[in-house]
Amino acid sequence: MDRRHALEQIKNYIHDLFKDEPSGHDDVHMTRVASWAKYIAVKEDEDPFLCEVTALLHDVGDRKLFSEPEQAVHERDKLLVDLGFTEEEVDSIAEAIRTVSFSKGMVPKSRLGEITQDADRLDAIGAIGIARAFTYGGTINQPIYKKDRKDAIDHFHEKLFKLKGLMHTESGKQEAEKRHQFMLQYLEEFHREQACREETSH
Ligand code: ADP
Ligand code: NI
Repeated sequence: MDRRHALEQIKNYIHDLFKDEPSGHDDVHMTRVASWAKYIAVKEDEDPFLCEVTALLHDVGDRKLFSEPEQAVHERDKLLVDLGFTEEEVDSIAEAIRTVSFSKGMVPKSRLGEITQDADRLDAIGAIGIARAFTYGGTINQPIYKKDRKDAIDHFHEKLFKLKGLMHTESGKQEAEKRHQFMLQYLEEFHREQACREETSH
């Protein structure tokens, strides 16, 4: 297999599929996750090519993003076969992707799955994660902040602050720690700004 050609084709396919995605799962999310997966793979002595490919493809077939998920998964696997991936490689990529999602509560069984999940989780935290949480919230009509109903700030506590403790790899943990600290700082400032004139604004 010509790996450079395969990567180029997969990037084009991902660009076409996700370029207009509005909820924080656009093609740039996929390429950021792929870069981190590749970086972590090198550090962890795993195959950077397979990790990059899996990360590029990790949201293909996600039920919240695709009206026909099975069809999307079928097309994804067909592309891989056409590009020369072996049946075993296609199966391990598919299995890793099945276990990535936080909301489905799955635990990866392979190092490939763990690295893909770590890279995806990094993109949900830190400055980029904050931007994505508010963007996602906007697409489901979730308010930024309300005292008496679920808001985007709740999401920090329900998910984002938990991710640091759920990382699998050492290099993922190190980066997650920095991003976690930044989110703590951000929320402190958010609440300061929210509260500082509250007593005079009613
Ligand atoms: P999952 O792991 O559940 O598949 P994704 O990796 O697709 O999630 O990420 C969805 C993105 O949207 C993440 O950045 C996540 O923090 C954000 N998100 C998900 N649910 C909410 C929510 N209720 N409010 C704000 N942001 C959310
Ligand atoms: Ni993702």
